[in-house]
Amino acid sequence: MTEPTQMSFALTEEQQLLCDEVRRFAVERIRPGTAERDRNHEFPAEILGEMGELGLLGMLVDEAYDGGGFDALTYVLAMEEIATVCPATAVTMSVTNSVCCWPIARFGSEELKRRVLPALARGEVIGGFGLTEPGSGSDASAMRCTAVRDGDSWVLNGEKAWITNAGYGKFFVVLARTDPAAGNKGISALVVPADAPGFSVGTPEDKMGLKASKTAPLYFTDCRIPAGNLLAEEGHGFRIAMATLDHSRLGIAAQAVGIHRRALELAVEYARERVQFGVPIAQHQAIQFKIAQMATELEAARALTYGAAVAEHSPAAGRLACQAKLYASEAANRACWEALQIHGGNGFCEDYEIARLYRDVRVTTIYEGTSEMQRMVIARHLLRS
Ligand code: CAA
Repeated sequence: MTEPTQMSFALTEEQQLLCDEVRRFAVERIRPGTAERDRNHEFPAEILGEMGELGLLGMLVDEAYDGGGFDALTYVLAMEEIATVCPATAVTMSVTNSVCCWPIARFGSEELKRRVLPALARGEVIGGFGLTEPGSGSDASAMRCTAVRDGDSWVLNGEKAWITNAGYGKFFVVLARTDPAAGNKGISALVVPADAPGFSVGTPEDKMGLKASKTAPLYFTDCRIPAGNLLAEEGHGFRIAMATLDHSRLGIAAQAVGIHRRALELAVEYARERVQFGVPIAQHQAIQFKIAQMATELEAARALTYGAAVAEHSPAAGRLACQAKLYASEAANRACWEALQIHGGNGFCEDYEIARLYRDVRVTTIYEGTSEMQRMVIARHLLRS
């Protein structure tokens, strides 16, 4: 094992205890079924129930709404522990915490928060986020889904693509065009319950990795929701979506750190055991250099991620989260590539955990904004001033 995460950072006693508890839970309760759930594309429903009881699904929600009231660093620490053991469970956790609960807690009316947050925060139900559409991915403001005000309701029509937790989520924060002529200022954010009339879920995607998490399209056909499900004001949706991603990218950075950490652990274990040319391959300099590089990049990714989390309220928070997500996801991809290389032909076989990690890590440079979009946002921040 590499050192637990927190060795290189001064954590509070509460954070340390939480890390220890989450690590124990992840190793004892999640790890035994991770490979099988991946093989069977099985959603970790039972595990999520237990995570809810531990308070891991409403970490960013205030205690007044039954959440944990944790800061971003504590959330990131917990994410890393879960991702080290099961990246698919980690993305499910990340999405409900940070792109569903977080924007509702931040931008919802008091009435809406009282109505939907406690069940989400207690983990009795989970949530998701509907931004992407078939024709609108990186160019998020090109969305076509509409919401029209009709008396005490909003009526949605359109489609959302690649929605994590679709089919299992109870509430989705959905971005829709409420004024087609107003560009990004004509987009609003609405909370759509999965039992709203006119709401349906399409066929789940057959993904190359994170197979135990669920990803599917959402369809809205005259889907009617209460007027009070609007977040902030009409026309504020695009900025809400961007602010949400500014924060949630920390979770994906932490997921990448967790995967990277596990890839390094597996590489070290295998290098110690595997004998070639009469010695464990760990004694060959070519292998030692790979391990040294992976470990160094892990610490760099972790430092960026924790640093960005600590700075969650600073004016640079969005840029720092992009930098953390960009670096951590690319470093984790490199680490999984090298760890599989160290495993040789065995790593190409699903009997070895590194094969799953190699598939799971790939999407971290894509979702919640591709590396290219992260670079664009970072550059814009720097050049603007
Ligand atoms: N906070 C608040 N407001 C912001 C903002 C932020 N971080 N970023 C931009 N805005 C505002 C701007 O100030 C601007 O306002 P004005 O019009 O008043 O000037 C407005 O929003 C438009 O901003 P841009 O001109 O920068 O918008 P753009 O169209 O050029 O594109 C983009 C911006 C950054 C590329 C954006 O489209 C983007 O982030 N794309 C990536 C989408 C993404 O990350 N999708 C992930 C899907 S969710 C997911 O993956 C979840 C999962 O399953 C795990």
